[in-house]
Amino acid sequence: MKLSYDFHTHILPGVDDGASDTDEALSLISALKENGVKKVCLTPHFYTHKESFEDFVSRRNAAARDFIPRIQDEVEVKLGAEVFVTPYLFSESRDFSPLCLTGTNYMLTEFPYSAGFSGETMKLLLNIRNVGVTPILAHIERYPKLMKEPELVEELIYMGVIIQSNAVSFTDKKLKFKLLKYLKKGYIQIISSDVHSLRRNPPSSYKEATEVFRKKCPDVLPFLERNAEEIWNS
Ligand SMILES: [Fe+2]
Repeated sequence: MKLSYDFHTHILPGVDDGASDTDEALSLISALKENGVKKVCLTPHFYTHKESFEDFVSRRNAAARDFIPRIQDEVEVKLGAEVFVTPYLFSESRDFSPLCLTGTNYMLTEFPYSAGFSGETMKLLLNIRNVGVTPILAHIERYPKLMKEPELVEELIYMGVIIQSNAVSFTDKKLKFKLLKYLKKGYIQIISSDVHSLRRNPPSSYKEATEVFRKKCPDVLPFLERNAEEIWNS
């Protein structure tokens, strides 16, 4: 069984620190496809403390209008963003749907890596829930607090947060053991690449992570694929 959904990529060219031009972006799409991925979300960074909502959305949409029609591979795409959540996101009441994965109420989010996942962070996550949006927490492995305190992860799941981990982290000797433990407990609901280039979080990490799952915990594969399918079709 292959994992065929990728909810977290920096492929949309020229928008962030991911693909710099159309050729590079198309080669990343092809490489993901070679590694079994058929449905891809384009989620460039949106730093809410550095750029206005309107500026980000118009810059991203212009890039998407130019790029998406050029995709030749049989890969379906949705547009989204990796939203660095700060109180600025809520400075005006607004429609959050442009930041959600196209046609869904799911929004990919990240926080400072030093986030304590106590008062302030939880308040921001609740603000997102309160406007009817389900946050996907990107790369759980980047938060030392969450890697040390599984009860906090349980609290996030209880709040309705979807937990994502990067495929490449399952090939990292230091992270792998703990992440597999979390995966077996059902804490990690989706895997994505967070691809930036053919070298940084490369598309090949998908196949490598799948191999690790097949050997260590084959039961997670249908669980991950089902969760991904539900989000994509929601
Ligand atoms: Fe990312």
